[in-house]
Amino acid sequence: MVTILYCCRAPLRIWYLWSQVADVPFREPFVRSFLLGIGSGLLLEGAHVLMQMLGSQDLGAFSYSPALVADHILAFTSWFGLYFLEAAAVLSVLKRYNGDEQAAAKDLANLSTLPKRLIPRLPFFSRESRFTKPLLASASEATGTKATATVDAEAMVEPATKLATSTLVEPMPRGGTVVRPQGENSVVRAPPRKPATSVPLPRAPSSAEEMAAGVAKRARELRDRSGYLKNMWYAVALSANVGSKEPVKVQLCGREMVLFRDATSGDVQALDNVCPHRGAPLSSGWLSEKESGTCVVCPYHGWALDGAGALKDVPAAMNKGEWPKRSLMNVYDVEEKGGFVWLFYGSRRMPVNERPPIPYIPELDDGGWRAVYEEMEFECNHFGVFENAIDMAHIHYLHGDSFGNADAPEIKDMQVASDAYGITATFTITNKPVNAFWSMFQVPEVFVTARVFLPSTSVVTFTLGAGLSFTTFVNTVPLTATRSVNRFALIRRLASDRTGLFNARIWDGMARDAMRKILSEDKAMVEQLRYDLLPAEYSVRADLPQVAFRKLRQQYVDMGYGLPTETFVPTHTVPANLD
Ligand code: FES
Ligand SMILES: [Fe+2]
Repeated sequence: MVTILYCCRAPLRIWYLWSQVADVPFREPFVRSFLLGIGSGLLLEGAHVLMQMLGSQDLGAFSYSPALVADHILAFTSWFGLYFLEAAAVLSVLKRYNGDEQAAAKDLANLSTLPKRLIPRLPFFSRESRFTKPLLASASEATGTKATATVDAEAMVEPATKLATSTLVEPMPRGGTVVRPQGENSVVRAPPRKPATSVPLPRAPSSAEEMAAGVAKRARELRDRSGYLKNMWYAVALSANVGSKEPVKVQLCGREMVLFRDATSGDVQALDNVCPHRGAPLSSGWLSEKESGTCVVCPYHGWALDGAGALKDVPAAMNKGEWPKRSLMNVYDVEEKGGFVWLFYGSRRMPVNERPPIPYIPELDDGGWRAVYEEMEFECNHFGVFENAIDMAHIHYLHGDSFGNADAPEIKDMQVASDAYGITATFTITNKPVNAFWSMFQVPEVFVTARVFLPSTSVVTFTLGAGLSFTTFVNTVPLTATRSVNRFALIRRLASDRTGLFNARIWDGMARDAMRKILSEDKAMVEQLRYDLLPAEYSVRADLPQVAFRKLRQQYVDMGYGLPTETFVPTHTVPANLD
C-alpha cells in the first residue's frame, strides 16, 4: 500500500502542475497512460509479491528487491511510452488542421489508439465533455449528418423496382450485338426528393390474381438474379495458381473445367473437366508433352487430350484410325490479364470484337502501384456477394474497426453513370482512422469511385490524404447456384513516397491480411442474407450503384444472356445453351 501511494503521489503532483499549462487534447492521453502504466506496474509487483510469499521470504516493510525496482521502471516507461504514442496521434491530427483544435475536435474525438482501446473513456474526460460537446454539435450541423440524414432517408425510401424504372440508365442495344456508346455517359438520376409525409409504400394487392402476378414477378426477378450470365469473361483462377506441372480444377456457373499451361507457349488451356471416354475428372490426371503440345492425361484409361480437346493418345487402342479426329469436348477461350486467368463462358462463335471486354484496370500492371492477390469462397449465391462489393453503407457497420465510421455513416454526393458494360459511381464518405498510421492520411471526407464491369467485377478506389490511394479489384465468380468465390487484388499507392518503400514486398502480408479480415466480415453477413423472404426490397439514394447494376444486368438477361442455374437445368444440357 505504501508503495502504491508512493507511486501515485509524484505523478499526481506532476499532473496537477502540468494540467495548468498543457493543451486540452493532451491531458486525457496523459491520464490514460498514467493509469495504464501504474496498472501494469501493479500487476507485475503483485506477481512478484506473490512469488516471494510462496517462497516464504520475509518481505519486510520496505524490502525492495531488484524485481520490485523493475516494477517501478515498467510503470514509468509504460506511462510515458503510451503517452507519447497517443500524443503523437493527437499531434498528427492537429497538424492536419494547422493546430486548430476546434476544427479538429471531431477527428480528435474519433481518434483510435492503443491506449484508447484499452481505456476508451475516462469518467472525468467524457468524449462529449465541456470542450468537445459543442464542437461536435456544430460539426454535425455543418456536415448535415445524423438528424438530417434520417429525414433524407425517409424521404427517399422507395421499392427497388420503382426506383429502378425511374432512373435513366442508358438502354442496351438489342439483337445480341453490343456496341459502346460514343457520346457522354448517361447519368442515373435519383427521383426527386419528397417530403417525409409522402413515403410511398407498396400497395396491397386488390385481388387474388394481382397477388399471384406479384408473386410470379418477384420469383422471376429472384431467378434471373441468382442465374448466370453467358458470353462474359470470368476470372476463373489467379495466374500464379496455374503452372505447367499439373492440371488445375476450377468451377464456374455450375460446371467444372480443367486448366493447364502449355509448357512451350505458356498459354493457359481450358476444357470441361470430364473425360469424353467415361466421364473421369481430367484434373485428377497429369500433363504430358506430345507433338502438338502439352496434353492432359486422364487418370482412368490414359487418354491424352490437347488444348483443343482432340485425342493425342489412347493407350488401349494403338490403331489411330479408331480415334475420332475432331474435338471431343467443350473448349473455352482463355486469356491472362492483370494477374488473373479469364475464361470466356459463352458461344465461341461470337466474334471476338463483339464480346464484352475483359474487366481490367491498368493499375494491375502499373509499376507505380502494388497489387496483392487472394481469393475467398462464400457459401451462398454470387449475386449477394457481388452486390456487397458496391454497397458502401455497410462499411461503417461491418468494418467499423477497419475503416468505417458509424459516427458519421452518411454517403454523400452520390452520382452514378452507366455505359454499355458497367456503371461508375462517385461519392464521399467519412472514415475513422483506427491507429496512428491511418491518422497520418486522414482527410475530412474520403472521395470514393466505385466502378462495375459486367458480369461481376467491382473496382472501388479510396483516395485519402498525403497521396494515399488504394483500390479493391474484386471479381465475384459464380461456382454453383449456392457457392461463389471472390478473386481479388488489393492495389495500393502512396504518391508522395519517392523511396518505393510503401510498395515494398514486405508489406504485402499485412495488406493481404487486412483484405482477408474485411472479406471475412462480409462473408459472415452475406451468407445470411435472405432476399427470397422479401416480397419487395427498399432502396435509398445511397443504394443507387446497386439499383443501376440490377437494371443493367437485367437488360442483358432480357437480351438472352441469362442462364438458369443447375438447380433448374440438368448439367449435361447446359452446353447447348451457350450458343
Ligand atoms: S474415362 Fe478417361 S480415359 Fe477412360
Ligand atoms: Fe464489406
